[in-house]
Amino acid sequence: MVIYTQKETLIQALSSAKKNDRIGFVPTMGALHKGHISLVKKALSENDVVVVSIFVNPTQFNNSADLQTYPRTPEDDISLLKNLNGEVIVYLPEVSDLYEDAVSAKIYNFGGLENEMEGKHRKGHFDGVGTIVSKLLKIVKPDSAYFGEKDFQQLQIVKKLVSIEKLPVKIVGCPILREENGLAMSSRNKRLSEIKFVESELIYKTLKEVQEKFSSTSIADLNVLVAERFLQNPHLKLEYFEIANEETLKTAKRKNKGSKYRAFIAVFAGEVRLIDNMPLN
Ligand code: PAF
Repeated sequence: MVIYTQKETLIQALSSAKKNDRIGFVPTMGALHKGHISLVKKALSENDVVVVSIFVNPTQFNNSADLQTYPRTPEDDISLLKNLNGEVIVYLPEVSDLYEDAVSAKIYNFGGLENEMEGKHRKGHFDGVGTIVSKLLKIVKPDSAYFGEKDFQQLQIVKKLVSIEKLPVKIVGCPILREENGLAMSSRNKRLSEIKFVESELIYKTLKEVQEKFSSTSIADLNVLVAERFLQNPHLKLEYFEIANEETLKTAKRKNKGSKYRAFIAVFAGEVRLIDNMPLN
């Protein structure tokens, strides 16, 4: 496994690999867990070389405390990646390698996808994601890039980004991996206290309940049900729950035949913000 900290040397190394090899890419912000590793394994199974970037991108944080406390475990990340079978290249840059002049985000129009859910609660977040993903895809030039469905809105936005910027890459969405209690795996879970971790099972349980009741219950009643479940729990604070059209991500008020729906949720467990989603039909 080779680690590059500068884009020029990475580009150089990849240019010789590129001729015959298929390149897979897994962008991450580090603090790797089994969910990330499942993306890297999928990428390894479909490509000759896999690049994993580890970079906590400052422009996608709308809250400086969140940026400051985001877990950073580069040594553990590297030993996890070293244990994998296959050719993994790590790109571990400093901020200045990716943001030369100014640490700022490009303003994007993702056709409205950026204004729903996470976009409403984390202003500018998707401009930051679009900016960094575009920079990284232009450096790595992968054949395929792998993103987890836990950030389902991000996945849809990245698909839109590559179509807007005409980037020749296949975007592959990968299923959510869960802890034993159902909590979606996330780097942020490392910051949960024991009790908050245990109580966070309510997120998965509630999404499952919504999924089971979706065909027989109105969206309005499901919204009330979810609000009630969280009001009863002193450890968790519901930020939003929405049932949305899977394509447009627009909030659904009622069900239309032929449309696909997904439930989306954001919850605070103390200071830690957790998101999750589940297909409904
Ligand atoms: O999902 C993430 O970890 C980040 O948003 C990404 C895609 C690596 C961009 O910084």
